[in-house]
Amino acid sequence: MSLHLRDVTVTLGDGESAVTPLRSLDAAFAPRAVTALVGPSGSGKSTLLAVAGTLLKPDSGQVLLSGTDLAALSTADRARERRRRIGYVFQSGNLLTGLTARQQLLAAASVSGRSLRSGSGLRARADELLDDVGLAHRRDHRTDTMSGGERQRVALARALLLTPELLLIDEPTAAVDRERASDLAALIRRTTRHHDCVTVVATHDPVMEAAADEILDLTRREDRPTML
Ligand SMILES: Nc1ncnc2c1ncn2[C@@H]1O[C@H](COP(=O)(O)OP(=O)(O)O)[C@@H](O)[C@H]1O
Ligand SMILES: [Mg+2]
Repeated sequence: MSLHLRDVTVTLGDGESAVTPLRSLDAAFAPRAVTALVGPSGSGKSTLLAVAGTLLKPDSGQVLLSGTDLAALSTADRARERRRRIGYVFQSGNLLTGLTARQQLLAAASVSGRSLRSGSGLRARADELLDDVGLAHRRDHRTDTMSGGERQRVALARALLLTPELLLIDEPTAAVDRERASDLAALIRRTTRHHDCVTVVATHDPVMEAAADEILDLTRREDRPTML
């Protein structure tokens, strides 16, 4: 299991407003390791996650997931790879409306196309993960009544239930207090080790950054402070 971006360029928008957040980017991400993507707002962290997660096709370059170039696949094949192999935790959570926390996890498992344990084993695992993200007491609450940070934690538990090979998380600790942030960072590390997954976390939180094994700084050269 590995992720390798090779010579990836992404341009967004057209004409005057076009921006190129990723330009000829080369980066390798190791299994069993958490990489923190850092850099100022607008440096391309979310764009990199979208490219790695097959939601965005780069203008050029390769996105190699264990040797398969995801960027070269058809839209349908990319969607299949995403469903089977990738856990994507958006900053917004991207949950379904009207479901409780526990139902979010079980619904995702049933449409995942992955072979998972079923019945009571699956429910027990879902509850364990909700406990891990600090939401055991809210598992039967509808997620649309939850705060942004809580919804994102449900989304993290949902991604972990599917034991992805590649776990992509956008700003997991942005909407939580410090103590919760360090719990979440520890959970992300532990899960990454346990499932041998490649984990990439966009973050501007020093707590999350400190818990990472690797740091990838997307600050553009022209924006870096010059050495005196
Ligand atoms: N759909 C889009 N169309 C045009 N520009 C976009 C779009 N999405 C993001 N951008 C721009 O791309 C750059 C990188 O954005 P992003 O990857 O979200 O940065 P970060 O996550 O590091 O804050 C920013 O300048 C942002 O304004
Ligand atoms: Mg972002």
